[in-house]
Amino acid sequence: VSVAFERLRPAGPPVDARTHVESLTLVIPEARPRVLVNLVISADGHVAVDGRSAPLTDPGDRAMFHALRERVDAVMAGPATVATERYGRLIPDPDRRARRQATGREPEPLAVIASRSGELPLQVPLFDVPEARIVVFSPVAADQAEVAAQLHQEEYDSGVEGALAGALTTLRRRYGVQTLLCEGGPTLVGLLLAEQLVDDLFLTIAPKLIGNVSPAPVIGGPPLLEPAGLRLVDVLIREGTLFLRYVRTAAG
Ligand SMILES: NC(=O)c1ccc[n+]([C@@H]2O[C@H](COP(=O)([O-])OP(=O)(O)OC[C@H]3O[C@@H](n4cnc5c(N)ncnc54)[C@H](OP(=O)(O)O)[C@@H]3O)[C@@H](O)[C@H]2O)c1
Repeated sequence: VSVAFERLRPAGPPVDARTHVESLTLVIPEARPRVLVNLVISADGHVAVDGRSAPLTDPGDRAMFHALRERVDAVMAGPATVATERYGRLIPDPDRRARRQATGREPEPLAVIASRSGELPLQVPLFDVPEARIVVFSPVAADQAEVAAQLHQEEYDSGVEGALAGALTTLRRRYGVQTLLCEGGPTLVGLLLAEQLVDDLFLTIAPKLIGNVSPAPVIGGPPLLEPAGLRLVDVLIREGTLFLRYVRTAAG
């Protein structure tokens, strides 16, 4: 299913997610992969409803999500995200895998998880996929015997300054990773930002309000029973600032 995106800036004819993402010029840094972060947030800044991002996504967001996965050499997510979002095979669509192979890429990106505790969410389907290649940065060795996926263990000491930068350097040098997509969660994104390792932020702003769940968002007061729907009516861009006008709709 092709999902067309309107290009407001730079202005252009409508484009589908894959054409857009594949056309991006991504300059690769010297010593580490280029890091792309992709997040979907509500208009009041939340990343999840009851711990899941699904209520915030729509077909356009999903198309962008899959197009980004198709483009990159590695996909990184925090252990909490891998667990709560129940990560499975990174590229389930055989056509996408074939397209990657046709352009000299591995059929699927490397999966990357960093953890201080070494407690991996081994119960999620990703670890049952024999084709999955997973690099684990953790101080504790994961037990390969427990999973069908191909596990690669790398040393990791979160107490050391520049720990994630070191991990990214390892990904570049040892695994040839030139582009890495970080899919969250907020903790991992914050850790990457703190080490100035984020190059691109793909931010989808969903036309929904979640209400006052912890941590407090832009709006306060009692939590909403269900996400409130918004309709985006105006988009203006001035010197890199995006001005959005939303109209509240009756139901989410
Ligand atoms: N809207 C979106 O686009 C989006 C995207 C992703 C996730 N989410 C949502 O975000 C929530 C999860 O986000 P989160 O921020 O709680 O979790 P997260 O970033 O996925 O993972 C947090 C985990 O990272 C590990 N960690 C902490 N410090 C570390 C360090 N210095 N080095 C390496 N690992 C470290 C910790 O596990 P250890 O104890 O094992 O170290 C911690 O529990 C979920 O509700 C998910 O649905 C939304």
